[in-house]
Amino acid sequence: MPLPQSFLDELIYRCDIVEVISRYVSLKKSGSGYVGLCPFHNEKTPSFSVSGDKQFFHCFGCGEGGNVITFIMKEENLPFMDAVKMLADMYGMTVPEDDGDTDAARRRRERLLSLNKEAARFFHSCLTAAEGREALEYLLGRGLSKKTIISFGLGYAPADWDRLSSAMLKKGYTKYELEEAWLARKNRSGGIYDAFRDRVMFPIIDIRGNVIACGGRVMKGDGPKYLNSGDTPVFNKSRNLFAMNFAKKTKSGRMILAEGYMDVIALHQAGFDYAVASLGTALTADQCKLMSRYVKEAVICYDSDNAGQKAAQKAIDLLNSAGMEVKVLHIPGAKDPDEFIKKNGREAFALLLDKPQSDSEYRLAVIKSKYALDIDAQKIEYLKAAANYIATVSSPVEREILSHMVAQETGVAAASMAAEVKRAFISGARREKKKTESEAMRPVRNIQPKENSLRYQNPRSAVCEEKLLSIILEDSDLLHKAGEMISPQEFSSEYLARIFEKALAMEQSEHEIRPAAVMAGLEDAEARHLTAILSEKVPSHDPLAEMTDYIRVIKAEKAKDNSQGDDRLKEILSRKREREG
Ligand code: UTP
Ligand code: MN
Repeated sequence: MPLPQSFLDELIYRCDIVEVISRYVSLKKSGSGYVGLCPFHNEKTPSFSVSGDKQFFHCFGCGEGGNVITFIMKEENLPFMDAVKMLADMYGMTVPEDDGDTDAARRRRERLLSLNKEAARFFHSCLTAAEGREALEYLLGRGLSKKTIISFGLGYAPADWDRLSSAMLKKGYTKYELEEAWLARKNRSGGIYDAFRDRVMFPIIDIRGNVIACGGRVMKGDGPKYLNSGDTPVFNKSRNLFAMNFAKKTKSGRMILAEGYMDVIALHQAGFDYAVASLGTALTADQCKLMSRYVKEAVICYDSDNAGQKAAQKAIDLLNSAGMEVKVLHIPGAKDPDEFIKKNGREAFALLLDKPQSDSEYRLAVIKSKYALDIDAQKIEYLKAAANYIATVSSPVEREILSHMVAQETGVAAASMAAEVKRAFISGARREKKKTESEAMRPVRNIQPKENSLRYQNPRSAVCEEKLLSIILEDSDLLHKAGEMISPQEFSSEYLARIFEKALAMEQSEHEIRPAAVMAGLEDAEARHLTAILSEKVPSHDPLAEMTDYIRVIKAEKAKDNSQGDDRLKEILSRKREREG
């Protein structure tokens, strides 16, 4: 049912546009109206004007304009009806019944929402009081600033059984409401006790700015690490995302999807204010739909453990089904984005975000970010550091690619960079030799098969395909898992794909894998190459993780090939081929 025009007129009349916009934009009087910096595009001189007489705004820079409702829709990224409700709330007006809600049901929801808001305030005030000292220290100790703590409204639930309940009862809320909001639980004798005790509290806020639930983390001792509200009349955990209230305002066109509260908060604090997380459950289709209302692209940034990578696979499908473009960020050297940012800083994360890279390219980029390349002395330091790193990369092709890349970006002759890497390689090898027979010391086979007919089109992917095969041809469980994660069609090398296909077929029919049998059907040259691959295998501490890594690179390469084709790689390769005749 559309809203009556009389109501809209009244709303626009009461919500003074100058006052509303002033909450978001700092306005200066100019002529008969006001001007400020446009919130809808980047500018340094104000071309955004607001007219109090006409009750509209207009930007001479980007052309945006409209009335107060249009403004809220754009600024808060809300649909029309929600913008109207928000304004009506601000100015104490009641929106005429627009849905099937009865008065009673609506009032009940409103009571629960205000209870949630009061509870969040209570928790926050406890955090800043003496009793919350330990909790505050915990949060600060995890690297959060006071500003972040305030903007996320973090809090502390005291250790006693009834502090929140009695404070809320005093404010006139009922036991039933407390329990309904999942803030209190019933005990055997019919009384209630606080659901969250001695925990750091994270309020969950919906897109309209309502506090709808909360989560709490233990600081020490036992109990589940995170405790989350169950569903309530105002909270459906499968339809909401943590920090969506901030992320929905992003102009970046994307959202980062992380696993946990702390990841999201750390990301926001580092300036990535478009991070969200599902709420202690796997991602749902509804959550994907919600994201897709605001942005086209999702960047999955789950934990780097197996569980996280598995969840990422599922999330990709769901997000794709919601019509979103999906990128998956692999977080090298850290458990989750929170830990990564703490370790490497925001610039390093920005690098990860903006360039889908191989692990080694990524590591080089991190090294690079530490030097100011426009200063000669630092550039030289960078070249040395880069060469030292490249020398540790085991694949010769990869070493060559990386060294070309560094030469190119620094304007150094390719030959000098290659010499530098060689020097680092030799001295590294000498050092290693004293310690143990390292991988760098082993004779390294030129990855390209000897036979011309077997030449790899995409050596980066092929290296990983080879390594993947070397793992799964010895372990039928892993082979089975690999079969679920990747198909032979995703391989870049037809020949390696064939081997994979054969192995899968054997696993399926015989539930075991015999490399020799796989080899039986191959051409001589192919079989020779395969034995080389298998004999180079280095035992791994965590073959599953390694396998997952290889699969990720193969998939990423496939995606790259599909979209643009890696021109740089092709160029380097054709040059290499020329050299080899
Ligand atoms: P993690 O165990 O990865 O924790 O859970 P985390 O995010 O790294 O948390 P910190 O850094 O130790 O504080 C990821 C997410 O899974 C949910 C929470 O939403 C958490 O943020 N979770 C985890 C629960 O709901 N309950 C739990 O007991 C643990
Ligand atoms: Mn964490």
